[in-house]
Amino acid sequence: GKYIGILTAGGDSPGLNAAIRGIGKAAHTYPGMQVIGFRDGFRGLMENRSVRLESDVLSGILTLGGTILGTSRDKPHRMPVGGKVMDMRDVIVDNYHKHHLDGLICLGGGGTQKNALQLVEKGLNVITLPKTIDNDVAMTDVTFGFDTALGIATEAIDRLHSTAHSHHRIIVVEIMGHKVGWLALGSGIAGGADVILIPEIPYDVHIVAEAIRRRSQEGKRFSIVAVAEGAISKEDAAALEEARQAKKEAKTKEERKKAKARLAALEENHAGNTMRLAQQLEKLTGLESRLTILGHLQRGGTPSAADRLLATRLGTACAELVNQGVYGVMVAARGEEAVPVPLEEVAGKLKMVPLDHPWIESARRVGTCLGD
Ligand code: F6P
Repeated sequence: GKYIGILTAGGDSPGLNAAIRGIGKAAHTYPGMQVIGFRDGFRGLMENRSVRLESDVLSGILTLGGTILGTSRDKPHRMPVGGKVMDMRDVIVDNYHKHHLDGLICLGGGGTQKNALQLVEKGLNVITLPKTIDNDVAMTDVTFGFDTALGIATEAIDRLHSTAHSHHRIIVVEIMGHKVGWLALGSGIAGGADVILIPEIPYDVHIVAEAIRRRSQEGKRFSIVAVAEGAISKEDAAALEEARQAKKEAKTKEERKKAKARLAALEENHAGNTMRLAQQLEKLTGLESRLTILGHLQRGGTPSAADRLLATRLGTACAELVNQGVYGVMVAARGEEAVPVPLEEVAGKLKMVPLDHPWIESARRVGTCLGD
């Protein structure tokens, strides 16, 4: 029989346990196939901390949030060890062989796809699953975790409506999503936000203020502004672009250092973006404003039915691919199919919301201001 390792890496996401269970239970239907879980992502594989995933461990975890294996953002090629950052890929390769693994399954988002490809290049048999609440993994229709987070963010927007309405306030709600706007756009539409700001469409604060003032004139004295954490104003986007260009074109060491510092300062400034936006809107509209940051609430708790279904579907398909010896791929969701896609086509690619996506069109059609 085959020996298979599993690890969960990157930020946790609802549906991870459903996927582990799907892989494990399906694996146990192949003669002699055994599954070992490594704790805390790539770190556990490096430190050789593992647990046998027998059927009793897999029972009762379908509905659990988080990951029973634990996770970390550690990268094989740059791992902090004893106060230093080190390339631990060779140690990982050794441990893989110590466990006599035939294959390693990595459950993760964009970063994990890149790390997995690095291990493929070191000769390991690796297969991945796409998980993240951000929905930013290339080549798959959707990632598990997204639907649950969408539900949580939508409910939050619903709840913010009644309090914004009662106090005649602007409520700016910051929604996760890393560098993309899927979660903010989806929950903003589903929750009926009046303004939705996403990184794909740099915004002009005056246009946003004007949309809110227009609502006031129509007698609607409150507004909900759903903002992706990565959303950026037109000015900031231009400044960032200029700084990136300057860094690229820097000739001397001194110039490069200066450009790097400028870029870091701009990125730091961007982190406090939503607070600044709430303050600007208060000034420009004369309406009292509040900021709500949904944060890690969006990643916690039990997965939605759709995420359990997706994770189970991809997990069981993954076990079948492992049985066939198909490696170096991510198991992508394409309609009702689970399709293996070469990791080279996934790693390092970000799936942003296309500007001609039907969600953007629909948002505009119902009169939502997108800040442009
Ligand atoms: O990738 C998932 C995510 O929740 C992003 O939306 C967010 O930018 C990031 O992780 C937060 O990371 P951390 O959990 O390390 O604070």
